[in-house]
Amino acid sequence: MLSDTAGSWTPVALSADLPPATVLPAWTPAGSIALWRSQSGRASASSDRCPHRGMRLSHGFVRGEALSCIYHGWSYSPAGGCIRIPAHPDLVPPEAIRVAVQKVEESNGLIWVAVGQPATHPPPLGDLVPLRSLTAEAGIAAIEAAAGAKADADGLVSVADFPWIRLLPTQQGDRTLIHVMIEQACSIADRIAASRIAEAVRRQAEARQKEAA
Ligand code: FES
Repeated sequence: MLSDTAGSWTPVALSADLPPATVLPAWTPAGSIALWRSQSGRASASSDRCPHRGMRLSHGFVRGEALSCIYHGWSYSPAGGCIRIPAHPDLVPPEAIRVAVQKVEESNGLIWVAVGQPATHPPPLGDLVPLRSLTAEAGIAAIEAAAGAKADADGLVSVADFPWIRLLPTQQGDRTLIHVMIEQACSIADRIAASRIAEAVRRQAEARQKEAA
């Protein structure tokens, strides 16, 4: 999570894990979100609670440029306004019916979601590209200890002896979502090795977390 005085950016998912016309659940420090991508490719972040009867919007579906609730089909635009109520097809939904939305930016193959109104953009991560994401049952401190380095100003954790790998962790309560980043020029063999090394760091972090409990 990258913060300034006005807000923060959280790397919630890999761009490749959110194809057009799909929705998935994600997390930011402000709470759960429905992260979705329209048919045309625009990524959006909506509160994960339908204003009608509270169904999780991440269980819904995407049609065209709208996210629809799985329960009664109310549809929401990327700006959060309700644009269709199937039970009343001739009704223009009142402007008051809307879901909260958060700003989204994509860079370095990651989807970043804003909490508040950060004054800056997500950090440029040079030639790093995402390899995969994994979840550790451990906090960031345990991951830093297992990797052998502290997070830098951009939130990246280097892995001792493997300079082409960086871990980008986001703690979510007792768990941490880790995006594994590698240098773009990595060979297939390096990619396979990076995946295994990241899993080894996770195992060590989880072991340290258990020992500390
Ligand atoms: S709960 Fe979402 S449309 Fe009814």
